[in-house]
Amino acid sequence: MKGVSNHPLRAAAERLRRSERLVVLTGAGMSKESGIPTFRDALEGVWARFDPEELATPQAFQRNPRLVWEWYEMRRLQVLQVQPHAGHYALAALEDRLPQVVVITQNVDGLHRRAGSSDVIELHGNITQHKCFADCQGAPTLLDIATLSQTEVPPRCPHCGAYVRPNVVWFNEFLPVEALERARDLCLRADVVLIVGTSGIVQPAASLPYIAKQHGRAFLIDVNPQRDEIAPICDIFLQGTAGSVLPQLVELLDG
Ligand code: APR
Repeated sequence: MKGVSNHPLRAAAERLRRSERLVVLTGAGMSKESGIPTFRDALEGVWARFDPEELATPQAFQRNPRLVWEWYEMRRLQVLQVQPHAGHYALAALEDRLPQVVVITQNVDGLHRRAGSSDVIELHGNITQHKCFADCQGAPTLLDIATLSQTEVPPRCPHCGAYVRPNVVWFNEFLPVEALERARDLCLRADVVLIVGTSGIVQPAASLPYIAKQHGRAFLIDVNPQRDEIAPICDIFLQGTAGSVLPQLVELLDG
């Protein structure tokens, strides 16, 4: 095997090349280069006067369903108009090169799947999907808003008449249990975890790298233009954007 260069990018690519159980953990920074504002950026223009906690909680929705619905509709339409960037496609390309690549994302924009990643765990849900606010069918049942009457805003659930809501995790809500359990299990068994575009602040997603490192002894690679909360426990910190670093890693893998 070629001597592993001490250049962090080469060393990271070398480690990826040997990975058998790769987990990729992404956050809002992964979507920034697609033009999707991070959660806090999204409060611009008419929304600037609101605090996220005023718009992204079940209580906010009950207090003012139309306001919350319209904020999410604005963001949903934004998401449908943007495209995955080179970083998303690079992660999807890893699947042809490595035995296991699972993407665990905090992003709700669905861009990883649109770029071709086939195994994506959406810890915070997906803004392009909708469900009944009352979860009347038991487990969250996705509803196709195109088939729902638009006489009311938000539309009503066809089964029980409760309001329809975005299928995203709000503040004060639990993450989807199966998604979080599978994410934790994968991080326990991962041999490499590639972390991209997350500040490592928001729990429980922020605990996943620690689970991988402390219990699973995984090799951690962090990609971020700025040093984030996770960098101190990572084996390699690649300072740069997702759109520039990830394609370089794939290029080195092919080299
Ligand atoms: N490429 C990679 N990383 C980037 C880029 C980029 N082009 N631009 C910014 N970043 C980094 C920032 O430096 C920051 O560390 O992405 C990170 C984004 O951090 P947050 O905005 O805190 O996003 P995230 O870590 O995903 O946590 C936010 O909590 O706000 C809620 O539910 C919301 O999922 C969201 C989560």
